[in-house]
Amino acid sequence: MARRATALAHPNIAFVKYWGNRDERLRLPANPSFSMNLGGLRTITTVTFQEEEGPDLLFVNGVPVEGPARERVSAFLDHVRGMAGFRGRAVVESITDIPPGVGLASSAATFAALAAAASAALDLRLSERDLSTLARLGSGSACRSVPPGFVEWVAGERHEDSYAYSVAPPEHWDLWDVIAVVSEQHKAVGSSEGHRRAATSPLHGPRVATAPERVARCREAVLRRDFEALAEIVETDAIWMHAVMMTSRPPLFYWEPATLIVLQAACRWREEGLPVAFTLDAGPNVHLLCPAEAVEEVARRAQRVPGVLRVLRSGPGGGARILPPE
Ligand code: DP6
Repeated sequence: MARRATALAHPNIAFVKYWGNRDERLRLPANPSFSMNLGGLRTITTVTFQEEEGPDLLFVNGVPVEGPARERVSAFLDHVRGMAGFRGRAVVESITDIPPGVGLASSAATFAALAAAASAALDLRLSERDLSTLARLGSGSACRSVPPGFVEWVAGERHEDSYAYSVAPPEHWDLWDVIAVVSEQHKAVGSSEGHRRAATSPLHGPRVATAPERVARCREAVLRRDFEALAEIVETDAIWMHAVMMTSRPPLFYWEPATLIVLQAACRWREEGLPVAFTLDAGPNVHLLCPAEAVEEVARRAQRVPGVLRVLRSGPGGGARILPPE
């Protein structure tokens, strides 16, 4: 039997963020979160398991990857091997159009595609929920890239009940994310370390305590396609998360000067009547959410803001899926 499978997954942008873990090893999050998959960006991963044991091999866009990134992939594959009772090594070949390390949730697509491909290669036949639960062990936000469209991550108390599910399919709402890229440098402090620092901030407790209510309101806003209601929740939660980051010990500053310029511009545009809402992940780039009818105008304006290097855009995307063999 060829122990080989290929899977595709999209990154996601969180409307209510995952920041901080209650259990770091299992990536059990401090709070529930909510996101939309980004259909315009993707990672395609092929996993081939071999009979012989030994170090796994990882290639990203054809380039061999060593060090911590490969170790993280191997540690994740150990979970999959454990579930299947298989010990052979894996060759992982990943092709992606997501720039790494700039707060575009690249680890989400990476581990969602890896979980889907590796579990299919070993014929595990997981349900969507179990696949989401598995992907979470690789990167927390990856569990939200498994189901399609608009997705809620139920925080849960144990490994088995911390998973994401689809609240609405991608066709439900033609909502767009215009990403104003202000830096393509690899960030100095990754999210895994950031999660560790969250609890040192005095703003973390109140953020976590109020997150379930924001997730519930976010779910309602998405189901009603109520952009104004969504905008308020998304911006409040993003600013709060960055306030937690900035008040952690040691503090974490992900913003560049150009980040603030884009945020202020977005507030002005909304006052002028353009439907747009901002959010940011663990990086300096600004995600400008808007309904489809505003996407051209938002992208045009974002491109002209001083300090914006380029603009990416994406509508809603599907879930992680297995691709037919070539
Ligand atoms: C700011 O899922 O990247 O993007 O589990 O350590 O891989 P790890 O963290 P990760 O954290 C995502 C943080 C965020 C917010 C979000 O996507 O919810």
